[in-house]
Amino acid sequence: MARSERIKLEKGSFKKASTFFRFIKPYRLAFSVGMIFLFLSSLIGMLFPYLMGQLIGKDTPEVISSVTNVIPETQQWLDLNNTSTLIKVMICVFAAQAFFSFFRIYLFGYFTANSLKDLREEAFKVLVSSPLNFFNKNKVGELTSRISSDVELLRDTLNTTLATFIRQIITVVFSLVALFFMSPRLCFIMLSVVPIVAIIAVVFGKFIKKVAKETQDASAKSNSVLEESLMGINNVKAFANEFFEIIRYRKQVIEVRDKTMRIVKWRGLFFSFVIFFMFGSIVFIIWQGKLMVDTGDMSNKSFISFILYTIFVGGAISNLPDLYAKVQKAIGSTQSLMAILDGEKEDLALTPIEASLNLKGNVNLKNISFSYETRDDVEVLKGISLDVEAGQQIALVGSSGAGKSTVSALLLQFYKPNSGEILFDGKPAKEYNLSELRNEMAIVPQEVILFGGTIKENIAYGRLNATENEIIEAAKGANAHDFIMSFPDGYETYVGDRGIQLSGGQKQRVAIARAILKNPSILILDEATSSLDSESELLVQEALEGLMKGRTSFVIAHRLSTIKNCDKIVVMDQGMIVESGTHDELVKIENGIYRNLSEIQYR
Ligand SMILES: Nc1ncnc2c1ncn2[C@@H]1O[C@H](COP(=O)(O)OP(=O)(O)OP(=O)(O)O)[C@@H](O)[C@H]1O
Ligand SMILES: [Mg+2]
Repeated sequence: MARSERIKLEKGSFKKASTFFRFIKPYRLAFSVGMIFLFLSSLIGMLFPYLMGQLIGKDTPEVISSVTNVIPETQQWLDLNNTSTLIKVMICVFAAQAFFSFFRIYLFGYFTANSLKDLREEAFKVLVSSPLNFFNKNKVGELTSRISSDVELLRDTLNTTLATFIRQIITVVFSLVALFFMSPRLCFIMLSVVPIVAIIAVVFGKFIKKVAKETQDASAKSNSVLEESLMGINNVKAFANEFFEIIRYRKQVIEVRDKTMRIVKWRGLFFSFVIFFMFGSIVFIIWQGKLMVDTGDMSNKSFISFILYTIFVGGAISNLPDLYAKVQKAIGSTQSLMAILDGEKEDLALTPIEASLNLKGNVNLKNISFSYETRDDVEVLKGISLDVEAGQQIALVGSSGAGKSTVSALLLQFYKPNSGEILFDGKPAKEYNLSELRNEMAIVPQEVILFGGTIKENIAYGRLNATENEIIEAAKGANAHDFIMSFPDGYETYVGDRGIQLSGGQKQRVAIARAILKNPSILILDEATSSLDSESELLVQEALEGLMKGRTSFVIAHRLSTIKNCDKIVVMDQGMIVESGTHDELVKIENGIYRNLSEIQYR
């Protein structure tokens, strides 16, 4: 999804973003108290221009007496004309401000850190529970960025932007009230100038944002080139295409620069506009105030306070659009985060599975048809029916793209068939708890991807509570023990990102050990020995035969020698089962696919 789409706010977006409040709710006390402190510190900050006016401004004695006559009580306990009292008051004000600010920042920080922790946790929970279809449709990079950078943006917003936004609003409101009481006339003059300049600035700012978006898009595009080239650096080097990639990247970078240069001009104009008119209007108001002071319509102190309040208002108003934009952007990212949370989930246990189902391992595929949602016009499986008795070994053979791996994905309940159903021990798959059902199966996949930990951790992934000895036994069973021990760190050897530091055959044996450790009732081997040399294959084949004994096993293989002894061999072609039987039966079929294949392979 493009960035722009995500930031754009549709009608229901505030509603969607508001579901975010359930993450705030547990910490609402901290939030509310923080809010109170924010109010207090902002309000106290509003005393600053007034006190500065008292400190700097000098009034004539007549004015002083006229003021003190009006409010004699004030005179008695707090004489702000006395400089040392004034300084003491100011110190108290600043101390209170410091106190409130500390707790405001602390409480907001506490509330943000905790609610975002919950949000991250929940988002991850939803992501890992999402059906595979979701991952076919969404890029992993995009999802990662949502959870990392969007959450980061939210943190910034909740911690700082929101507080600043609220403080500025308080500043504007209270300054205006103060201004009005000091001099209604001057206040109206100010109001007829400052907001107009501010509104023009907002419109201008919006235009700049639009141009800035183009730059962002260009920069995102250049990032994807960067990512692609570095992720596929092996390919780049193998094809000696470094120069091509450099040119490709340069093109993008130049675009970013050109777009940036366009915006630079407007941004410059914007700032000179703001500076000129903002300061211009402030000078205009000061001039008006000065006239009033000269005619005795206003006291000197009030005048100084007035100037400071006006500067406060001007500053706050010109900050508001930027802050508003930031809040808007945060709402946008909240919205897309919430979209993840509302996503479809598999019905998983999400707790350690305690009891095993003890499946016998009878499997029936009943007239299964299936197409991937991302390519729903292509029917990948067309009415597959297959009855497997507990403990049988079933081989799936057929040309590339015939649908063999798809069958294994359906067995594992990664996808639901469009029609037909799969029964385990005579009961439809949907009547089982999904996690428990999957717990009965193990797969050695076609492309083994390991986690970035140690070999030991990777084997233990098959059964998290396995003991060290069980892990070593499993590794021995997979013929992996010897190569593991040949590493200086043995079982503690790090396999690197996605297992990059192991060879294909080594990874495959780790995956086999994992499956052995899991001790499943149903085993799926998708080309489990394809990356092994003939000698290792023989050894692993023995191990696999031991592993397959007594459990229902689906063996997908291109090399027919590995499946010759299976109870049943199923030949698939273009999503259909075209032949099935034992090896001996199948080689007898005149012009049969299996017979052809075996003739080629055994020649
Ligand atoms: N995630 C997916 N989304 C869309 N189509 C897919 C997906 N995975 C596989 N396909 C398509 O489904 C068809 C069957 O693929 P499958 O992986 O089951 O073949 P296979 O028999 O395992 O082949 P191979 O022997 O090469 O592994 C192919 O045409 C493939 O393009
Ligand atoms: Mg496959």
